[in-house]
Amino acid sequence: MSMDKPKVLVARKTFDDIVDRLRPHFEVECKEDEGAWSQSELIARLQGKAGVYITGTEKIDAALLDACPGLKLVASMAVGYNNVDVAACTARGVLLTNAPDVLTETTADFGFALMMATARRIAESEHFLRRGEWKQWGVTMFAGGDVHGATLGILGMGRIGQAIARRGALGFGMKVIYHNRSRLAPELEAPLGARWVEKDELLQQADHLVLVLPYSASSHHAIGAAELSKMKKTATLTNIARGGIVDDAALARALAAGTIAAAGLDVFEGEPSVHPELLKVPNVVLTPHIASASIPTRRAMASLAVDNLIAVLTGGKPVTPVNPEVLGER
Ligand code: 8YV
Repeated sequence: MSMDKPKVLVARKTFDDIVDRLRPHFEVECKEDEGAWSQSELIARLQGKAGVYITGTEKIDAALLDACPGLKLVASMAVGYNNVDVAACTARGVLLTNAPDVLTETTADFGFALMMATARRIAESEHFLRRGEWKQWGVTMFAGGDVHGATLGILGMGRIGQAIARRGALGFGMKVIYHNRSRLAPELEAPLGARWVEKDELLQQADHLVLVLPYSASSHHAIGAAELSKMKKTATLTNIARGGIVDDAALARALAAGTIAAAGLDVFEGEPSVHPELLKVPNVVLTPHIASASIPTRRAMASLAVDNLIAVLTGGKPVTPVNPEVLGER
């Protein structure tokens, strides 16, 4: 009987009880240990599989799709899908689903925490203490910038950007300015007092600039040397979006030169490698891509990917499709 079940691959170690929900419907092959398979191993294991569960790190490109002609569904537990060639999926009739909404508030919590840690020099001062260098207290020792009442700049104003704006405006009395391709509807702007501005004005006015935009060719190095030079010397920059949106080499130079005060980075160009110059400057808080990493949220993300696998491969409708035109629904 199990011979008739479609086969799915769970390409990363995930919560066992959530993966178990797949078993009544599918023959399931699962990565049992941490880390990712190499591209060639992923392709080998995808042979004969109708669906694959991925995270934001597996690369799904035209070459992989051509090598896995049986694949019908790519279900990602991430909201961002710059690791997937969507056009190549669509051209081959492969559906992609992602995991929006379930991580919005957790990711916004982390973005705000990283911005606060950056502004108030929490990591830098903790390292100083751990090194045993705290011999006496001083009036301006690790004095940073204020968060409350400051101007919060947001680049990218989707669900997570709006959730960060809400924290800043309603919790910390911040003035919110933002730049995005499209303006928010007035009824969304009004309760936040949020104002759409040109990118240059955002760079010039923000005390704390937070990046929350998707990565694409058009957002590659959206923050480089020229942009950093337009920011206030006292400003901070926080990136919880994607590596590659910031030119990390230019940022390391700007941090060393005092072009801006500090940065908080959860994502990096070429991660898990981190630009060596970033590791040398003290005024940067570095975290390993964990903005969505609360247990309830990671479970909700995994669960949504599993819901999509079950729905689509048992003949139902996807919950969160990225390219629904594959199903003739657009
Ligand atoms: C994920 C993310 O943790 O959802 C995204 O786009 O960047 C993170 O929430 C990561 O991609 C693993 O799936």
